[in-house]
Amino acid sequence: MSASALFDRLLDDDRWSSSVIRDLLIHARRPDVISLAGGLPAQEVIPRERCMVAADRILTERGAVALQYGVSAGESELRELLVRSSEPEPDRIVVTAGSQQALDLVARLVGGSTGTGPLVAAIEDPGYLGAIQVLRSHRYELAGIPVDADGLVVDVLAERIAAGLRPRLCYVNPTFQNPTGATLSAERAHQLVELAEANDFWIVADDPYAELGLEGHPPPGLPRSANVIRLGSTSKVVAPGLRIGWIDADPRIADRVVLVKQTADLHTSTFNQLVVAEILGDEIWWERHLDALRARYLVRRTHLADALAQRLPGLAVTTQSGGFFLWGELANPVPDLVSNALQRGVAVVPGSAFAVESSSPNTMRLSYSAGAPEHFDEAVRRLAEAIAAG
Ligand SMILES: Cc1ncc(COP(=O)(O)O)c(C=O)c1O
Repeated sequence: MSASALFDRLLDDDRWSSSVIRDLLIHARRPDVISLAGGLPAQEVIPRERCMVAADRILTERGAVALQYGVSAGESELRELLVRSSEPEPDRIVVTAGSQQALDLVARLVGGSTGTGPLVAAIEDPGYLGAIQVLRSHRYELAGIPVDADGLVVDVLAERIAAGLRPRLCYVNPTFQNPTGATLSAERAHQLVELAEANDFWIVADDPYAELGLEGHPPPGLPRSANVIRLGSTSKVVAPGLRIGWIDADPRIADRVVLVKQTADLHTSTFNQLVVAEILGDEIWWERHLDALRARYLVRRTHLADALAQRLPGLAVTTQSGGFFLWGELANPVPDLVSNALQRGVAVVPGSAFAVESSSPNTMRLSYSAGAPEHFDEAVRRLAEAIAAG
């Protein structure tokens, strides 16, 4: 085979498409652009000082362990802190490089398991783009299930199963979903678990925004079931750069995930795990940190929602009680809205970026997490101008 044919074969594989959002973020970093595009935590709530103190102590007191190879399941003190108090079994936990890796490992594990028929994953539509990418990369066919104010519309999934759909797994982001902000109601969560148990599929519940209820606590998430594989992350509440996430599943599944993890990267950074363990273990500081973080996001969310209501009444905005995102829908399509908005100096993500089977043509995700609230009025003014020009 010629070298160019070899290259063609490799580069033809369209499972490796870039994320629209990551591409957009390159433009959104321009100094003249106000970004409502990325789902990053606010810079000022990332606890840099606390990380420095923890890092210093760990290197001074436990440097030999922190800088050495560690166990694939993760450091035991972190696993003990991450396990939910209702299920105090640290062997349910595998520490991963963010919940993105957790999803990748689970998708590989489930995708390689025996099953009949095509490899199908049900997923919220619109859904988290990172999950769409991972599942496609492992050659899953995606069945997009609509989302409304109460999260995944489980009745639609049930209807599709009754009509012959055989999902191997169902991916859900149950609390303050990315991108719509919707939260799965307790009733739907029970219904979904019953459906999974009756039809033998896994529920992969990716819950990085669970701690970010801005107006009281959100529902508790999915009820306990052997079919549920929970994914967690410290990215939105500590620091995404530390890359600490986890899987919380039946120990038999956790053991298998450890084997998959060994083939990927042996283990997650020991040093970073110990830094996060020290921070999470500092209970009084941790609770105060979470309160401060929620207070800041509430200000941001309220400011952006108010600016949109005042300046852009034509955009129907769904405002949720937590997370990082608002979801907007226009009555009519506006051609080239995203590029026109960028030209005017504001970045938003088109809803179509999250579409699975639907096309969500007139929708957009507006993130309030990272931007400075004093810039939100101007951002919305620019967006209104771009919509009016379209
Ligand atoms: C729903 C969802 N899952 C996973 C991730 C990735 O999290 P992590 O940094 O833990 O890999 C994100 C980040 O935006 C997310 O929104």
